[in-house]
Amino acid sequence: MSSAAQFAKLARSDRPLTALTAYDYPTARLLDEAGIDLILVGDSLGMVFAGLPDTTGVTMDQMIYHTTVVARAVSRARLIADLPYGSYTTVKDAVENAEKLAAAGAHAVKLEGGSAPECEKIAAIDDRGIGTVGHIGMLPQHILEEGGYKKKGRSEVEADRLIRSARDLEDAGVESIVLEGIVPEVAARITAAVEVPTIGIGAGNACDGQIRVIHDIIGAFPWFVPPFVRPLADVAGEIRRAVEAFRDSVV
Ligand code: KIV
Repeated sequence: MSSAAQFAKLARSDRPLTALTAYDYPTARLLDEAGIDLILVGDSLGMVFAGLPDTTGVTMDQMIYHTTVVARAVSRARLIADLPYGSYTTVKDAVENAEKLAAAGAHAVKLEGGSAPECEKIAAIDDRGIGTVGHIGMLPQHILEEGGYKKKGRSEVEADRLIRSARDLEDAGVESIVLEGIVPEVAARITAAVEVPTIGIGAGNACDGQIRVIHDIIGAFPWFVPPFVRPLADVAGEIRRAVEAFRDSVV
């Protein structure tokens, strides 16, 4: 069965979808072997891999490189890659760059926003036979314009706009929609309003699945932990312990 058919089947099942980011071969292979449904080569790599202040400095070349190494490790999960900031300014750019990420091994590409211009780009990418994933709510690529990470859906006008965006993205052809930083009740309304699965991050438990940045859940980036994350391991602590043990063992 193709990855797209497998995903469509999974999306219809009652079990919540699981999604995590990966940027390197060993992590991607561990996630794939553990049965994670969706692996995202997220542009969050700008922060947790490259130490940048936000995602706006991530380039297409970097996304292609990380998608290539992750694709080498993935044999089962659906592999999604982010179109980085500035790579989908026009429909032509969006299609060309989606094709580059697909050539690197992505089954689908994700882009941020759910207004008419993004829907037009989603439809054009979809026409080329490349899967697409929407992303609405708090949009990390817009952090500089918005002046910070702000929860979305606090007013009825904003909630209605988000629901409309989700429906428009569905009509444009997305296979799933990431809901980031959205008031949980509004995320539940969006989930009820569309057929495609919603995948939440900081959007409550009513979504069809959950996505997290891998470094956050394994405690590998201790300098910033988002408020909605409960780390399930302390990888940073283990690295420190092993490195100190090595340092002290060298005589
Ligand atoms: O880049 C990323 O890791 C993401 C997730 C936070 C959804 O887009």
